[in-house]
This record gives sequence, C-alpha cells and structure tokens, in this order.
Amino acid sequence: MADARTAPFPDDPIAKIVDLERYPIADLESPAAAALITRMREELVYPGACCLRNFIRGEALTELRCEAEGLAHLAYGGPREVTPYFFNYRIGEGKGYPEDHPTRRTTPRRLGQVAGDLIPEDALLRRIHRSPGLIAFLAKALGEPALYPLADRRQSLNISVMEKDGCQQWHFDRGKAVITLLAQAPEGGGHFEYVPNIRSEDSENYEAVSRVLNGAREDVRTVEITAGTLMLFRGHYSLHRVTPVEGKRRRLQLILAYADKPDLQGSAESSHLHYGGQAAGSRD
Ligand SMILES: [Fe+2]
Repeated sequence: MADARTAPFPDDPIAKIVDLERYPIADLESPAAAALITRMREELVYPGACCLRNFIRGEALTELRCEAEGLAHLAYGGPREVTPYFFNYRIGEGKGYPEDHPTRRTTPRRLGQVAGDLIPEDALLRRIHRSPGLIAFLAKALGEPALYPLADRRQSLNISVMEKDGCQQWHFDRGKAVITLLAQAPEGGGHFEYVPNIRSEDSENYEAVSRVLNGAREDVRTVEITAGTLMLFRGHYSLHRVTPVEGKRRRLQLILAYADKPDLQGSAESSHLHYGGQAAGSRD
C-alpha cells in the first residue's frame, strides 16, 4: 500500500493540502479510501450532502484563507433579491402564477463572487482545484467516470464572499452537484440549511417550497460548516440557503466547478449575472 502521505501524481499538492491521515485519498484503492467513498456515495443519495470536516491541513488552510482575503475586494455583488429558481430559470414565465407563487417570490441575496479569471495562476486556490489526486477522488465519490476542471475561465473556480449580514437566498442549483470548500468561517451565522429532495424530476412540489419560504422548519436541516470543510452537495432537488453572517469576519467559501467533459463552457448570461459585464484584469 502506498504511504498515506505520498500522492500518486507528481507535483500534486494533495499531500501538502489534505489531511491524508484523516482522509486517505492518495491511494484510492486502499480499503480505508473505499470505505470513505462508500459512505460519501450513500450520503449523496440521501440526504444529498456530504461534509468532510478538517479536510484541509492547518498551514494550507491559513494560506488559502490569506489568498481568499486578498482577493475578496474583487467580488461582484450581483442581484440582491432572487427567486428560488435563480436568475437563469424561466420556469414560471407565461404561466400566470400569482404573486405569492414560489417562482415569483424573492428573498435577499447578499453575497459577492470573485470570478475565476481574477484568481492568480500560481495561487494555492487554483492548485487545489486542479489537483489530479483531488479530482480522481471527487470523480469516485460522485460516481463519474472522469471529471475535469470546468474550462470556463470565469466560472471554473469562484470565491463566494459574505460580509456581515451576508446571506444566500433559498434556491435550487442548476447543476447536479456542487463542491465547496470553506476557507474562513464567520464569527456567527452563515449556516448552511437545506431541505433534502423537496422536488424531483417529476414534481416541482411548489406547495412544500411555499411552506419553507413561509418559515416552516420541520424538514429543514442545518449544517454548521467549519473552516477547512469540503462539502459535496446535490442541490438540484434540495432547496437550500445560507443564513445571515454575524460579526465582522467574512465568510469565504471556494466553489470548485468540474465537468464530465474537458472543454465545457458555462453560459455567457450566467457569467454576466454572477460577475458583471465589465472588463477587468485578464478579461477580454
Ligand atoms: Fe446553491
């Protein structure tokens, strides 16, 4: 069996970054890694969220936090009142739904996102995202034959920045899975909440979504995510949000985007809404 600290890929920063004793992902064929992946796959089926706490080693976490802090001022705020179906969905258009229908209900969105092309090439943030060892591990956990960093230079890697009172509205994700890494937790608040599988391929279940928007809590799960936690989340069917951040310390979270094809680009509309339309840095 390979040494737990030995990464199988040359120049892969995985051994420097990941707590390989806690999460033995350098050797994916080992029984310990197989057990971890089995557990993750089960959690991703239900409840749909899988948190790996203390995934990042102490020094690497400090480096990540400093890099993210240094870039936080570049975050673009975007829309501040958004429906659960986000700005890309036109799910309710032309249906004549009343004003209180979930497709027309907005809640506050108070966050900014640093676009991927503003993150330096040599940043540890980037090296984590491109780590072959991490990618191989994520592909196994998600049951994908292969994964590639999203080719879209703005959408591939983002830093989500929440200042005091920052939050994310109740919403569904467009993609099937999202990978996040919390670089810095706030002093209070900023909790992740979700309602597992509230909708399905067959039913939008608007009635249940309305109840949650009206404050029903019985099906809501709360996850307190600590700095250094890697989270895999299937947010397409599970309504979710981030509660308001308390205190002065920012909540800084990396969003690591992957695709099952090496050349996949995101939509220009999504980029415009998330990062704005102005040229900056290396942009055209
Ligand atoms: Fe989301």
